[in-house]
Amino acid sequence: MRNKKDSFKILILPGDGIGPEVVQQVTRLIEWLEQNRPISFHVTYDLVGGASLAEHGVPIRDEVIKKAWESDAVLFGSVGDPCWAHVGFDKRPEVAILALRHELGLFANLRPAKIFDALTDASTLKPEVIRGLDIMIVRESVGGIYFGDPRGIEVLPDGSKKGINTEIYTTSEIERVARVAFTLARKRCNRVCSVEKSNVMESGLLWKEVVTNIHQQEFPDVTLSHMLADNCAMQLVRNPCQFDVLVTGNLFGDLLSDLASMLTGSLGLLPSATLGETRSDGKCAALYEPIHGSAPDIAGKGIANPIGQILSFAMMLRYSLHREEEALLIESAVSHVLADGFRTADIMSEGMKCVGTAAMGDAIISKLAQLAKV
Ligand code: IPM
Ligand code: MG
Repeated sequence: MRNKKDSFKILILPGDGIGPEVVQQVTRLIEWLEQNRPISFHVTYDLVGGASLAEHGVPIRDEVIKKAWESDAVLFGSVGDPCWAHVGFDKRPEVAILALRHELGLFANLRPAKIFDALTDASTLKPEVIRGLDIMIVRESVGGIYFGDPRGIEVLPDGSKKGINTEIYTTSEIERVARVAFTLARKRCNRVCSVEKSNVMESGLLWKEVVTNIHQQEFPDVTLSHMLADNCAMQLVRNPCQFDVLVTGNLFGDLLSDLASMLTGSLGLLPSATLGETRSDGKCAALYEPIHGSAPDIAGKGIANPIGQILSFAMMLRYSLHREEEALLIESAVSHVLADGFRTADIMSEGMKCVGTAAMGDAIISKLAQLAKV
């Protein structure tokens, strides 16, 4: 049993673009929780992405990776401001998130796409197609073509160039992410769809074989299906509610999760959790980030949607800090505020109240107070 007032060590990395403004709303939520719930946080902030390039000349420092290891969980904003294009590929802001995933061994990226009842109209798809949508995409996040060797750009004898990236998956890499997907499915609708391109790629053929074996050996009670990635993209638009848990590699997961996010109306709404192996002390390294990018076009304007970031914090409360009650409280506050008609610009529709980032934060906090009856 933990102490009456649980205390957690979290590292917050706002990043660049809209990262700092949306993270600011989580900082306010943290203050609210500390004042009103039996929970306290030891919060450390550091720089990553464009913010770190500006201050330290690199997208992430070893020191930050070390701090991440020592934390109960990491809350990440976003990186990718294109104003850093001149620093070169090895130093681009995105290196920060890729290094954190890789160095912390965060292999399972959980990307839920769940529709809020109040937002069935915000989707570009017909309400009857997306009503009740609740998908969990489990994206492998430290392997595949993102990290495979050989990679690079070579100059050929005739002076032209060759760009190279390599898709690699080993049995154990596939097994561990498949286990995460099957375990999650058991707590949901008990269905996993494994996605690859086994009709073209050997790595996909192995993916399918290994997932099938793990299913037979360890999770025969879960319903498993297989789908080619291109068909999956089509099915996600045609009939998204057919899916429960999707498990796939790094690149397909990147693409399909952006696609799935738009089913819900906005990229700005969706959270994610990226989890590592459970360590001997029972803890596991974990990073929580919205799936949206740094949206430099709207950065600094105070109009970004903070909900994806706030729901990422709720996922942290659930998966790393085991505070289901507070996670549900936040999720419910978000859903009530949307039902009350508050909308940031990205999800605005006729007759609703258009608010900025901070006003959305205000609305969620006052709803929290109301729901928790403080
Ligand atoms: C994501 C992003 C990242 C990725 C970028 C910023 C490196 O698109 O988290 O989906 O490709 O993984
Ligand atoms: Mg992406």
